[in-house]
Amino acid sequence: TTKAVLLVGGPSRGTRFRPLSLDKPKPLFEIAGHPIIEHCLRAISKVPEIKEVYVIGYYEEDIFRSFLQDCTKIFPSLTVKYLREYEALGTAGGLYHFRDAILKGSPGRLFVLNADVCCSFPLGQMLKLFEEKNAEAVLLGTRVPEDAATNFGCIVSDPNTKQVLHYVEKPESKISNLINCGVYLFDTECIFPAIGKAYKRRADRPRLLSYPSSENLETSYIADEEDSGTNQVIRLEQDILSDLADTRQFFVLETKDFWRQIKTAGSAVPANALYLTKAFQLQSPELSKASAVILPPVFIHPTAKVDPTAKLGPNVSIGPRAKIGPGVRIKESIVLEDTEIKHDACVLYSIIGWGSKVGAWARVEGTPTPLTSHSTSIIKNGIKVQSITILGKECGVGDEVKVQNCVCLPHKELKRDVTNEVIM
Ligand code: GDD
Ligand code: GTP
Repeated sequence: TTKAVLLVGGPSRGTRFRPLSLDKPKPLFEIAGHPIIEHCLRAISKVPEIKEVYVIGYYEEDIFRSFLQDCTKIFPSLTVKYLREYEALGTAGGLYHFRDAILKGSPGRLFVLNADVCCSFPLGQMLKLFEEKNAEAVLLGTRVPEDAATNFGCIVSDPNTKQVLHYVEKPESKISNLINCGVYLFDTECIFPAIGKAYKRRADRPRLLSYPSSENLETSYIADEEDSGTNQVIRLEQDILSDLADTRQFFVLETKDFWRQIKTAGSAVPANALYLTKAFQLQSPELSKASAVILPPVFIHPTAKVDPTAKLGPNVSIGPRAKIGPGVRIKESIVLEDTEIKHDACVLYSIIGWGSKVGAWARVEGTPTPLTSHSTSIIKNGIKVQSITILGKECGVGDEVKVQNCVCLPHKELKRDVTNEVIM
């Protein structure tokens, strides 16, 4: 059998997702009408042989409780459990810590998914390649623009055999634009011993970094910052994958389908667009056929009230109990629950936080980024600004006020026009 693990991190991570993560842990943030991790679970639920999934992180137990209850209804074929690390153990450390639970029932294969990616998760194709090659590990890869590649794990592969020849996590110089999507399939008999070995190496020879200083030739040894005080942090990317490449049983499935990271709060907008587009292609009954003017794809929660003269889309999600007034225009945006958008307001490339109010004739807007971009900031008048405007929870925008390329922390009232600012 096969099991799956979702790596969700914990409260000390996801800082780039502020201000939205101030009010809700990122894995539960709703994109295209569903929590980020529900999209991952949906893909997992389509693999018939997977019955058990572990969500591993270091958030408090309570955080996922009600979501996991919902999961029993949404995914009746899956048992989804949350396993909490007592502290951040790293992407491989968490797996290893819970190896007894994961290996119960002797699953032969294990999917591991980073929870903070938006992707079509072609897990079936990964399984197929795994079987064809009699692999020890299969990694999902995608091509990104050359200049973005070094922000990710980079893969050098044999184009014919699909073998991973080299793997380097966030290299300093360009080695390849085929990058790690954060979706893996492992042979359980191979991955756990590999992590065990990495721990042993660590214990035998604590990781030291040597910095030969150019000024005095003295060499100083400084323990790796993240490892000091604990030997527990083991990362798949740095500590395991490069070694796996040496085994020659490590393969990459290159996806041509969509893939984005969800790191900054603004990245929720392209992720929303990609998931909505996919739902539209699959003719999901969930997408709106509301009486308003709709440019698909648009998701409107059944409890939201949208005036028939409002015009929404493309790529818009409207959350529960939101009120959208007459003449409102919304495009490429996420409007969260309990918000109110008054008549004739315009919302473009923005995220409107829970319970916020946008006044009549107000304009809240960001700037589009190119479709191929993996960044959500842009350079404007020589300075780097957010391309997506984000209002945190319970913000207010006055009537006729214009807010452009701004990030606004929760509970702020905007009474005058603002551009390119972070409002604290
Ligand atoms: N349980 C647990 N414990 N999860 C963790 C921990 C931890 O200590 N640390 C990180 N994670 C989770 C994060 O929540 C995320 O889902 C995933 O593991 C990877 O997060 P990071 O360690 O922050 O890495 P990254 O996102 O910068 O880069 C990774 O993903 C890229 C694709 O999105 C790497 O795998 C890259 O190679 C890859 O390109
Ligand atoms: P930055 O580099 O400043 O963004 O912080 P970081 O590297 O510590 O966090 P990153 O953005 O790389 O996110 C790592 C992971 O933490 C995410 O993938 C999430 O699974 C998890 N995480 C996401 N959102 C939140 C959140 O709102 N609160 C907390 N506490 N953790 C989150």
